[in-house]
Amino acid sequence: MRRFLVAGNWKMNTTRESGSQLAQALVKEVPTENQAVEVLVCPPFPYLTTIGEIVGASGIGVGAQNCYHEKPGAFTGETATEMLSDIGCRSVLLGHSERRHILKETDVDINLKVKKALADGLQVVLCVGELQSERESEQTETVLNTQMTGGLDGIDASAFDQIVIAYEPVWAIGTGLTASPDQAESAHQYLRNWLKDHYSSEIADATRILYGGSVKPDNARELLSQENVDGALVGGASLKPEQFIPIIQAAIELSAN
Ligand code: PGA
Repeated sequence: MRRFLVAGNWKMNTTRESGSQLAQALVKEVPTENQAVEVLVCPPFPYLTTIGEIVGASGIGVGAQNCYHEKPGAFTGETATEMLSDIGCRSVLLGHSERRHILKETDVDINLKVKKALADGLQVVLCVGELQSERESEQTETVLNTQMTGGLDGIDASAFDQIVIAYEPVWAIGTGLTASPDQAESAHQYLRNWLKDHYSSEIADATRILYGGSVKPDNARELLSQENVDGALVGGASLKPEQFIPIIQAAIELSAN
C-alpha cells in the first residue's frame, strides 16, 4: 500500500518570520503520531535551515526546490546536493514547470540533477505535466512520455524507493483551474503504466504519483480519492496553515479507510 505524501512548495515566497510561523503552525497541528501520511515542506533556500530547526523531530520533512548536478566547486549561485544533505534536507523537487518554462531547464538538465540527487541519497520529486495547448492538441501523453523518458534516463530500478512522481498540468498551476478527478486519474494511470512498461509492475505499484495544480481544501478529498493519486504537491494553499492542514487531514482520513 502506498503512503500518501502531501508536500508544500513554497516557491519564492515567505520571509524568515512568516515561514517560521507557518512551520510552527504545522508542527502544532499535524499529529506527531501521524504515520499514515508523509508531510514535506519545501521552503526557499535561505530558510531551509531555519525551517528545518522548527520542524525538528516532528516527522515533517524539509525539501529543496532545486539543486545543481555538480559536486561543490566553482558554480556561482548554485546549490550542491551535498549541502542539502548537510543541513538535514531530505528531498528535492526537480523538473517543476516553473523551472522548465521560466528558467528553461531541459529534460537533459533535469536528468543530470535527478542522478546527482539520487546518488547523494535525497528523495526526488520529479514533476511532469503538459501545457494547456498540449492538452488541447491531445499531446498530454506524448509530453508525459518525453518528460519521463528524459528525466529518468539511465535511472536504475533500485533507485525507485527514492523517487516520487508529481503530475502537475501546467494550466492548473496557480490558476485556480484544477484537473477534474477524471483528468487527474487518467494522467496518473498513464504514468503508472509507463512505470510498468519501462520498469516493472512492482515499481509501478510502489511508486507514489502526486497530483499538483490548484489543490485546495475543497478539492483535495476528491482528488486524493482517485485510485492512482497518492498525494498532493501544493503551492499557493501550502502557504496558509488553514488551507494546508485540512489537505493533510483529508489524506490522513482517507488513508484510514
Ligand atoms: P498551486 O501550485 O497549488 O499554487 O497551483 C502547485 C505547484 O506549482 O507545485
